[in-house]
Amino acid sequence: MKYCFLALFFLSQNLFAMSNPGKPFGQTPAGESVTLYTLKNAKGMEVHIMNYGGIIQKILTPDRHGKVEDVVLGFETLQEYIKDTPYFGAIVGRFGNRIANGKFTLDGKEYTLAAQNNGQHLHGGLIGFDKKVWKVEAASAQSLSLSYVSKDMEEGFPGNLRVKMTYTLSEDNELGISYEATTDKATVLNLSNHSYFNLSGNAKRDILNQEVQIDASRLVAVNKVLIPTGELTPVNGTPFDFTKPHVVGDRINDTSSEQIVLGGGYDHCWALDKPAGSYAKIATVHDPVSGRKMTVSTDQPGVQFYTGNFLDGHLTGKYGVQITKRHGLCLETEHFPDSPNQPNFPSTVLRPGEVYKTKTAYQFSVN
Ligand code: BGC
Repeated sequence: MKYCFLALFFLSQNLFAMSNPGKPFGQTPAGESVTLYTLKNAKGMEVHIMNYGGIIQKILTPDRHGKVEDVVLGFETLQEYIKDTPYFGAIVGRFGNRIANGKFTLDGKEYTLAAQNNGQHLHGGLIGFDKKVWKVEAASAQSLSLSYVSKDMEEGFPGNLRVKMTYTLSEDNELGISYEATTDKATVLNLSNHSYFNLSGNAKRDILNQEVQIDASRLVAVNKVLIPTGELTPVNGTPFDFTKPHVVGDRINDTSSEQIVLGGGYDHCWALDKPAGSYAKIATVHDPVSGRKMTVSTDQPGVQFYTGNFLDGHLTGKYGVQITKRHGLCLETEHFPDSPNQPNFPSTVLRPGEVYKTKTAYQFSVN
């Protein structure tokens, strides 16, 4: 009898963990099944997420008239995500953004990574976390937990790394993303989500008329291959000053700014003003036409604000929309790019016995 109760207890725990079964979303070429989960709240907001790359495929949220539309770029099918994507909605890892020349030294040992982007490492390498099928740990109506074990030396990074992450949709239209990781050898780690937001709804316009505000008075200046020079430069008096809201398109082509020329627009990490390690609101995006507003909060030291400068129109996304330059914007909360080679930047080293823990939230409202 006792065992019977125990069995029922574990079964009910498991059923609770999987109270959202999701829907089959196809298979990878290796035959792994992918499932798409819909998180929903009572306000009519929905977030669709798959366990391939932990990709956020859709975020449906109302405009000021209550019209619910999609505010992220992406595709209708898994096959399109597998074939060619600029990281639409994906988790990037083991290391988000660039590492100079695909090399870093840790505890006196040099590690070599894929240098697939202009001779630089980008977003975890050739088969980063964005291209892995993650294990579904738990799925309910409003949350999804995924895990992935990255083997020692996968993509050149040391240590067996265990990552767990959870997406949670709240009743006040906030999508929370939390990550936890441990390693059995010292390694470097910089996880982020690479959603391209477009608050116009169903990507019907580019993002140039949208207003952005970032709580950062310094920019992580880059060189011509978008690797940090090591300098944090004041944004005051430059097109990078978003301490007050600014229309994205206003200064994006201001070629009197060397950093604008180097980035081809905005493709930089802002060094956030909030105290190190604290969790705070750090940025907002507002679309004056639809009224949709997004507020970003994080405990990370930086945010990569990327305006889709490399989107060149060769991809067609959901709703049959051709994805052209500046059709979406990313606010990737993270540590500064190239931190493993920059002794003055906050450290991205994770050692055995330590727990990497971080959270970010995107909250949607209207104004
Ligand atoms: C990078 C861009 C890159 C994009 C897609 C962003 O995080 O900063 O330079 O093109 O990701 O890979």
